[in-house]
Amino acid sequence: MIQTIKSEVQTWLANAQTFLATNQPLESMSYQELETRETMILELNKSIDETFKRLRNVKEDADQTDSLENEREIDQFYTDYDFSIVAGNRVALILQRDITRLALCRMGKGVNNSVDNYIEVTPLANRVIILGCGHTDTFYGCGPPEESSEDEMSIPDEEYNHLHVGEYCVDIRAKMKPDVCLDITSTKMMEYFPDNSFPKIICENLPDVVFEEGDAQKIFTSANRILQQGGIIQFNNYLQISEYEDEDYPFDIILSEEEKQAVEDKDFSSYPPTTCHKMNQKVVDFLSSVGFELQPGFNMHVLPENYIAVKTKNVLTLSA
Ligand SMILES: C[S@@+](CC[C@H](N)C(=O)[O-])C[C@H]1O[C@@H](n2cnc3c(N)ncnc32)[C@H](O)[C@@H]1O
Repeated sequence: MIQTIKSEVQTWLANAQTFLATNQPLESMSYQELETRETMILELNKSIDETFKRLRNVKEDADQTDSLENEREIDQFYTDYDFSIVAGNRVALILQRDITRLALCRMGKGVNNSVDNYIEVTPLANRVIILGCGHTDTFYGCGPPEESSEDEMSIPDEEYNHLHVGEYCVDIRAKMKPDVCLDITSTKMMEYFPDNSFPKIICENLPDVVFEEGDAQKIFTSANRILQQGGIIQFNNYLQISEYEDEDYPFDIILSEEEKQAVEDKDFSSYPPTTCHKMNQKVVDFLSSVGFELQPGFNMHVLPENYIAVKTKNVLTLSA
């Protein structure tokens, strides 16, 4: 038995070293090659773990049966063999596994890539969630899909042609090939993402309809929980003048008749400063209610295309 284990260890070491010495750059590998590489690493490490498990069993048996001959043979094996070389190669392989997984994510082909996997291979500072996008830019529609979306289902699957390199994509439409398919207006579904685990969230051209009624609050509350302190959320400028006096959405502003006339046919950049201030104040107040502030240096009087807000406090008791 010990002889078999010895030869398994030697064969494993030779295979591991050959594998680690192959220096084809990961960037030049196809997705399939990367997947094969990941599988090979997992199998290599599984096989050495199984060999060592058997070695432990043999040792335990020898201890229990007081089989001196076997004990001596095992002790000799431990003396002769430098196991730190095996352990070192095993660690090197784990590192390669992580780099390979990161390369897979970076190819944007982490479709259905679990967030745990993404978090495992992506350092905290580099993690980004994209809300409202997948890894294809085929246009299937802005808002959530209709109940019976047969037309949509008949569109053939496209190539991955809008790769979010190293970013984690969320969309309500599976057809968009997101990493995870969920409704971002559901705080329950958004619990898929752990607390304090990301420094950046980008809302990528989400339709304004998802920011209406209570949904803006739900989206930002989830973002607040997911972002670490000081983390940022970027979102489009959804400000608009409300046509209805009774609407009070975070981005819909009610102006007096006089104010409306002053902005008629003008774009935001030529609005009177007081109106700009009033509009932005609405965003500022909303952001404050969900634990965010506009990024330092934000200029109230220049209406940006995108807002960037910084998480300054927790608005929820975080999950355990
Ligand atoms: C205008 S498209 C933007 C697509 C892409 N990000 C871009 O910029 O080209 C809006 C995307 O938001 C997604 N979306 C709409 N409502 C959503 C929701 N409640 N939860 C998650 N995704 C949603 C749609 O499925 C659609 O893919």
